[in-house]
Formats: sequence, structure tokens, C-alpha cells
Amino acid sequence: MEWTETGVRFLDQTKLPTEETYVNCPDYRAVAEAIRTMIVRGAPAIGVAAAMGIALGARDAKAATAGELLPEFERICEAITSTRPTAVNLFWAARRMRAKFAELSSGAVGDIRDGLIAEAQSMYAEDIAANQAMGRHGAVLMPDSGGVLTHCNAGALATCGYGTALGVIRAAIEAGKKINVYADETRPFLQGSRLTAWELMKDGIPTTLIADNMAGAMMSQGKVQAVVVGADRIAANGDTANKIGTYSVAILAKEHGIPFYVAAPFSTVDLATATGDLIPIEQRAATEVTQLAGRVIAPVGVRVENPAFDVTPAKYISAIITERGVARMPFTESLRALAAGRQV
Ligand code: MRU
Repeated sequence: MEWTETGVRFLDQTKLPTEETYVNCPDYRAVAEAIRTMIVRGAPAIGVAAAMGIALGARDAKAATAGELLPEFERICEAITSTRPTAVNLFWAARRMRAKFAELSSGAVGDIRDGLIAEAQSMYAEDIAANQAMGRHGAVLMPDSGGVLTHCNAGALATCGYGTALGVIRAAIEAGKKINVYADETRPFLQGSRLTAWELMKDGIPTTLIADNMAGAMMSQGKVQAVVVGADRIAANGDTANKIGTYSVAILAKEHGIPFYVAAPFSTVDLATATGDLIPIEQRAATEVTQLAGRVIAPVGVRVENPAFDVTPAKYISAIITERGVARMPFTESLRALAAGRQV
């Protein structure tokens, strides 16, 4: 994604891997729509996209004073945060933009606008730095050689660059480890086959695509030495919401004695949510399940459930890799310590 004078520009992830096209969002409403329709997706990416959308809305507002700008700014934040409910990065980004507004609110409206744009741009840079730090912390946990399975897309596409789970894998490979990535295709939206396989192949990283229901077989055949996934929201006790299907992978990993790692920036950690059952789970359109690339693959009228995320209980997670360090059980203590800037 890119901040430009004419709007926020996104690589359209709904078109990958067949088309590499960019969408320019000229106003905050278009940014909100890009988040809702998953032109841009992945928790850290939508956090920064939200910040850029809010900055764009504030830039274009007609208000002449901070007092006039505030109610419009609040409407913009509300429009952006109402797009997707699970990834906490969206709400984290809006909170940070609100704090920046409050800090600058005694100044001129032009300075508020400039400050909000600068804040969104620093969030972009911080996200890449966080991913690189996660890579440094997580690379040592990866096997020297063998298979690493991942689910959904927690790569450069889901962030501002380098990736969280895929950042850990990239760092391990940069350190000389010989890793083959097993990419779950990730039904129903196919982030694994469309996005993860695409970005890993672009980087020349050995990749094997599997349908989701093949993960257990790969593990039982000894082809998977570790699992690393991203996260959309991590509760204070370590319970982790991530793309639907992550929970099944975690249980399979436990059964096969394979370490299961979550890699996420601290903006994904939600200490205000005590446990995973309190995390709101986005329900998406039934057509994502009943159709494939626009073609109907289920009987018309069939009842469908399409939760976009599930929650993996903390007991299945070997470690949570963050830019501040690696948290282990009990996560309530280790996450709190990292949040307070202490080593664990
Ligand atoms: O619905 P999506 O594609 O936005 O869901 C994304 C995921 O679940 C990712 O695994 C998660 O956001 C981590 S991305 C670094």
C-alpha cells in the first residue's frame, strides 16, 4: 500500500494471483470499502490502511478549526472501524490516530492534518520494522531443515512488508535454514493458494500448496517440523483468533508433537480482552462458500455458516513471537511483561 497525493493505493488482493492491478482510493469511504471487500486484508495491513484512510478523511475535511474537525474526524474513524470486527489492529490504529488528534488539537487545523498523515506514515514504517524484529526473534525457532506449515496469508501482503509468520520463515531462510513451506490453500477465500503461494514463489522460497484437509496427512508422514501462523487478535491469556481453520491445524500439530507458533506484532495483542471467547468473530457472505471464482458449487438455498476466524486456545500454542520478544506459557504473565517493556 502507498500514500499518494491522490489517495491511498493498494495492490488489489482480490485479483491475485492472475492479475497484478492497483486500486487508488481517493477518499476515506473508498479506503473503508477496500478494507470491507478485502482488496487489502491481513490484520497489520488493515491497521495501517485504516490509519491512512483516517488521515485521508481528515485531509479532505472542510473544517476550519480543530473544534469543527473533531465530529467529522469521529465519523471517519467510525466508518473505517465498522468495516471488519475481528482484527484488533483496526481499532488500535483508530485509537492511535485519535490520540494524535488529541495531542495536536490546540494547534492549527493544517498542523493536525499534517500530523495525522505523518502518524499514518510512521505506522507503515514501524510495521515493517516490527516484522523484521519478529523475524530475528522467530528464526531461531524454525527447524534447520524440513517443512514449515502455514495457514492463510501472514506475509508481505498481509502487512506493510516482509510479513509476520512469513517474515519468520524469510528470516530463517536468510539465516541459511533449508525450509520448504507447506501453504494451506485456506478455504473459502483461498488466501493460502492465491496469496501465500504467490508471494513465496516470487521470492523463490520453496513452497508446496496443499488443500486444508491434507495438513494432517503431511504431519503424519513427517513432512512438517513446525507450524507458524499469524493472528488477528490475541487475548490477554494467549487465546488467538486467526483465519478459520487455524484451530484444526493447532490440534493436529499438538497430536503430532509439532511446535505451533503464532507470529504477530504487539498491535494484535488485546490485553483488554481477557480470553478468546470474548473476541468478536466476523461472519462473511455465504457466497464465499457456495461459489468458487463466481461459479456455483453448492445447491441453491443450502444453509451455510461462514465464520472468517476461529480461536485457538492458548494451550495449543508453543510460543507467540512478537517484535518485543517471544512470549511463552503462561501467556497472561509473559504478554503483560512484554507490554510493560520487560524481557521474558
Ligand atoms: O480475512 P483476512 O484475510 O484478513 O485474514 C487474515 C488472517 O487471518 C491472517 O492470518 C492474519 O491477519 C495475520 S496477517 C499477518
